[in-house]
Amino acid sequence: MKGDRVGKTVSDSTVVTTELAQPNDANHLGNIFGGKVLSMIDLAGAMAAMRHCRQTVVTVSVERVDFKHPIKIGYLAIIEARLTAAFRTSVEVAVEIHSENPITGNRCKTCFARVTYVALDEAGRPASVPPLICETPEEKAREGDARRRKGAWQQDRKRDGCDE
Ligand SMILES: CC(C)(COP(=O)(O)OP(=O)(O)OC[C@H]1O[C@@H](n2cnc3c(N)ncnc32)[C@H](O)[C@@H]1OP(=O)(O)O)[C@@H](O)C(=O)NCCC(=O)NCCS
Repeated sequence: MKGDRVGKTVSDSTVVTTELAQPNDANHLGNIFGGKVLSMIDLAGAMAAMRHCRQTVVTVSVERVDFKHPIKIGYLAIIEARLTAAFRTSVEVAVEIHSENPITGNRCKTCFARVTYVALDEAGRPASVPPLICETPEEKAREGDARRRKGAWQQDRKRDGCDE
């Protein structure tokens, strides 16, 4: 429901998708391009954010992306996006990608990123989002970390003189 202010749990909006790594998305080493991985991250994160907000969302920040291991052609990319925190009009989403050898089933964590989305109303203005209900100790810890990052970012923004 639009404008729904009822709190939602992390699992209410968590998105898990799987893609097969294809040659047309790969470099000459047979690994998936970083740009393709970023696109998978943004898409999964946006789906989780939209599920939580039930509104249109736009990406405002990709705060951190770590590429730890490549995703090889023919492997599965398992993309998991879960909210870490909901603020006034924005939500932070953590996205993790594992690669899976489809023959052996062996998995490897390849990538992690934190992405912030802003919900927009029909006029394209930032709109309020439902609260996030963090149930487990891990979810509560992740929310605390996200709030600290937000506080630090807001201080930087003020220092840069861009808070109008
Ligand atoms: C989204 C947009 C309308 C927000 O406008 P704005 O003037 O920054 O609005 P506000 O200052 O009210 O910020 C809205 C929220 O976004 C957050 N925000 C804005 N920029 C941010 C950033 N770089 N990192 C983290 N949060 C950010 C603010 O903290 C605020 O959060 P809160 O309301 O939950 O506390 C505007 O930035 C925009 O249109 N950006 C382009 C988005 C886009 O096109 N993305 C596609 C990828 S190119």
